[in-house]
Amino acid sequence: MAVHDILRMGDPRLLRVAQPVTEFDTDALHRLVADMLDTMQAAQGAGLAAPQIGVDLQLVIFGTGERHPRYPLAPPVPRTVLVNPVITPLSPPEGGPAVEVEDWEGCLSVPGLRGVVPRFDRIRYTGFDAFGDPIDRTVEGFHARVVQHECDHLLGVLYPMRVRDFRRFGYTDLLFPGLDAAQDD
Ligand code: NI
Repeated sequence: MAVHDILRMGDPRLLRVAQPVTEFDTDALHRLVADMLDTMQAAQGAGLAAPQIGVDLQLVIFGTGERHPRYPLAPPVPRTVLVNPVITPLSPPEGGPAVEVEDWEGCLSVPGLRGVVPRFDRIRYTGFDAFGDPIDRTVEGFHARVVQHECDHLLGVLYPMRVRDFRRFGYTDLLFPGLDAAQDD
């Protein structure tokens, strides 16, 4: 159990392409997951990627299993540990090309700011949990957005790199004056 410092944008370790996990169900991997859960909870995050605490591995955690206080309108996302993820954009159920949708995002590595980011509305993601058991889900909306945001960290991509209209990027307290001051990322 340990809460780690979260690296902030500008730290070159956030720009690396993370290495795949090769050994599952090890003490070291379970300890890393426990530390990341502690760190995410302490920061009230919706997700956290291993590179954000300086660990160069393809591992993300996300979800709380219940509604998130910072995203009260979003449906709950199951608490998930996802290792070596692969994301595939999916067509809408009625067919046609995969659709992108825009919504506001924040990031614990970019505190105090929010921006509008396009993401695929519907994705399939696969990978493994910390025990090496496979995960294979088809999701949409907020769940899909969280997964794409977290997995971007494994490619060295922070959400501001995906912002297309910088008129919709700024300080949270100015963009959303009603938000609690503590909810600043
Ligand atoms: Ni982030």
